[in-house]
Amino acid sequence: MVTSIIYRNQGVAIFLLIKPSNIGFNSLFLYKVLTIRQGEAKERYEELALAYLQERFPTKPHLIESSIKVVTNTPVMIAVTSDIASNEADSKDNEYAVCCAIHSMWLAAQELDLGFVWRTRGVGLVHDQRLHDFIGAPEGKKTVGMIFLGYPDAKELEEAKPKKRTPFVEKTVWL
Ligand SMILES: Cc1cc2nc3c(=O)[nH]c(=O)nc-3n(C[C@H](O)[C@H](O)[C@H](O)COP(=O)(O)O)c2cc1C
Repeated sequence: MVTSIIYRNQGVAIFLLIKPSNIGFNSLFLYKVLTIRQGEAKERYEELALAYLQERFPTKPHLIESSIKVVTNTPVMIAVTSDIASNEADSKDNEYAVCCAIHSMWLAAQELDLGFVWRTRGVGLVHDQRLHDFIGAPEGKKTVGMIFLGYPDAKELEEAKPKKRTPFVEKTVWL
């Protein structure tokens, strides 16, 4: 099933997520995703990230510098949220469904040669109240990921070592 569609608009990829089927809810549903591009909102996000880093790593200026560079160099960021339901099981299923949707975005990004990093920690700010406030503190929503999106540096890509992957047999338990 296709779960994500990408449109290109002025050189920026815009993702429309179609909700993967979730228990008891099979209709297609368009997620609202909040996209931050270069501009005033992006500058405010950079300020938040800097404040977070300065609080978290007061004695590590180099780490702060390299982390903030990641934010500055990323042209598009997408905050993805899931709905908090009236009970825990539904909220969890919503969150799992959103994770599937993000993964579909990831695969679609790869098709377009876009660099895609799902961040929750550090400058992803997903576990920080500041991000929730930044996106307007929507009630009944939980932020699941900040997606950092952009075209990778061609030279770095060429020089990157192939990734080591653990063989699936080492991650499989047969009962
Ligand atoms: C739920 C989740 C949260 C993640 N959070 C972070 C993060 O905060 N910072 C980070 O550098 N990578 C994080 N990652 C990993 C990156 O998204 C990505 O997998 C990694 O950079 C390798 O990407 P690549 O294989 O495309 O190079 C997270 C991945 C997942 C699935």
